[in-house]
Amino acid sequence: MGQVHVLDHPLIQHKLTLIRDKNTGTKEFRALVQEVAMLMVYEITRDLPLQEVTVETPVGVASAKVIAGKTLAIVPVLRAGLGMVEGILNLIPGAKVGHIGLYRDPETLMPVEYYCKLPAHLEERDVYVVDPMLATGGSAVAALRAVKERGAQRPKLMCLVGVPEGIRAVQEHHPDVDIYLAAVDDHLNDHGYIVPGLGDAGDRLFGTK
Ligand code: PRP
Ligand code: URA
Repeated sequence: MGQVHVLDHPLIQHKLTLIRDKNTGTKEFRALVQEVAMLMVYEITRDLPLQEVTVETPVGVASAKVIAGKTLAIVPVLRAGLGMVEGILNLIPGAKVGHIGLYRDPETLMPVEYYCKLPAHLEERDVYVVDPMLATGGSAVAALRAVKERGAQRPKLMCLVGVPEGIRAVQEHHPDVDIYLAAVDDHLNDHGYIVPGLGDAGDRLFGTK
């Protein structure tokens, strides 16, 4: 069974509090989401495999290490997942980026796929599906299914805020997937919003309503 990791680094928690604040405006919100995504991916990539190489320094030859294997793939769920990509690329500039377009039908809360473009050779890459919100879990379940159908082996899911309902849905449909969160909140309201959450992540990132 995949594990649920709540990343409690003080910088992540501090910045998440600012993100939650309803008085935080679009510009600051956007910057903070990128920063938290960067900090989360720093924690999550601790277990990436390394390989030995030699490198010529100005004064000799060093036995050193680089990350092994193909570059990893980040797959943001559009739209709000886009808000996490630059932060991750700051740390891993060579990462490939796929995109999955999903929106929640406001009546049924079911995800509707409208776009999917993913990097080649997903089966050989570490794949990180990223989306700020894990609410009912419908979007994450669909996004994980989409990357698996195109070859991803044991993709990981990284969200800022989740609720138990969403975590359960992912665990039920994708028991192999590790879930990384900055916080687990209390519940969903009647409109499928996380309470207390941070509001509509896409609208706050892009200044829409
Ligand atoms: C939000 C969020 C997730 C989804 C989570 O997207 O970014 O993708 O809701 O909800 P779920 O767990 O119940 O599926 P939204 O549908 O609002 O689209 P947007 O990113 O285009 O704003
Ligand atoms: N999507 C959001 O943007 N916010 C929520 O609270 C739930 C789903």
